[in-house]
Amino acid sequence: MTDPKTPTAIDAAKTHFAAILEQQLDRVERLKQDLEWTDYSQVKPIKIGILGGDGIGPFISAEARRVLEYLLRDAVSTGKVVFRDIEGLTIENRASHMQSIPDDVLAEIRDCHVTLKGPTHTPEKGDGWPNIESANVSMRKALDLFANVRPVRIPQEGIDWTFFRENTEDLYAVGSQGINVTEDLAIDFRVITSQGSRRIIEAAFAHAQRNGKSRVTIVTKANIIKTTDGKFLDIARSVAESYPGISWDAWYIDIMTAKLLDEARRNEFQVFALPNLYGDIITDEAAQIQGGVGTAGSANIGKTSAMFEAIHGSAPRMVKEGRAQYADPSSLIRAGSMMLDHVGYSQLSARLNKALDICTQYERKLSITGRDTGSSGKEFGDYLMETVESADLDSRWEGYVNS
Ligand code: IPM
Ligand code: MG
Repeated sequence: MTDPKTPTAIDAAKTHFAAILEQQLDRVERLKQDLEWTDYSQVKPIKIGILGGDGIGPFISAEARRVLEYLLRDAVSTGKVVFRDIEGLTIENRASHMQSIPDDVLAEIRDCHVTLKGPTHTPEKGDGWPNIESANVSMRKALDLFANVRPVRIPQEGIDWTFFRENTEDLYAVGSQGINVTEDLAIDFRVITSQGSRRIIEAAFAHAQRNGKSRVTIVTKANIIKTTDGKFLDIARSVAESYPGISWDAWYIDIMTAKLLDEARRNEFQVFALPNLYGDIITDEAAQIQGGVGTAGSANIGKTSAMFEAIHGSAPRMVKEGRAQYADPSSLIRAGSMMLDHVGYSQLSARLNKALDICTQYERKLSITGRDTGSSGKEFGDYLMETVESADLDSRWEGYVNS
């Protein structure tokens, strides 16, 4: 007979679940203390941290930094903007501290207003590194970077999408805290809160309003995942009421992934808001439609801090084969353009985007192949800076888009 005092599998699971509930209810309380957005027009200096990351990261982030420093040279000379290099967000240093972001690195990140981050290696079982949490996921949680904003644009097709992916909840919130109840039963937990849903949906509608967009599309699977996705949808309904000028619609994630491939209708979509995992998946699809995940930039935005990054990985093989200087910095520079917009330099951001379009999609005077058969990242940076400064940038860009 089993000892009645030995906790059964169910009891052990209940205890584990109770701890998660407490942790998440505390989190909800913190979310209720709604912070104000930082107003960068009032901040001096705006501190921009550069995190090289792993693999090709230091190479492409050096290039992105050079371009940003060049564009912001006036702001740097008046002391409105300062750049800081933050060392130590490397897999070697993270593994030696057994922390996804070592404390001293996190302190430096917290001291900056915004950071530009090169790709960081995420350990997976069997790759030789300890199984520490992804630096991205940790940074999103530590700084409460709740909005993952990912634009995808194909001007000649009329595609101008912006995805607002919730970045702190859903299956990611306690993704490492699932339970093997028995040998045969594994359970993970999906977390969706009213506050977390409201702030991302609100950010999507506010973006639409600011940028003259007329439609927000909410994506869920609320027909099946009734409680959590049902909440997300309910909150969307209530947020939409405060934006009478913007129409909204709701789609299920499966048909949404299909619709993004529907060339006849896809350019009708404008702004999307969606829970974390659906957003993770669909933004890779969308980036691929634009030309590959290597072409897209990504912003992780919180009210008082933000981190900007490329969506691609650290390409360790390029470094091993001595080709890191041929890595394409353009998606990290796209992220840099989002940073410019975020801290109040929207005109510089728009110019940089046009120059990137010209250099990577239209004129393409240089091509980057990732090897010595193509240009280096530095040559590309020079080409980009020359283009961004050219007097006829706007008319050239319009010429390409309309041809
Ligand atoms: C992304 C990535 C990350 C995620 C990984 C690297 C943890 O896929 O930024 O989309 O799943 O969010
Ligand atoms: Mg992803």
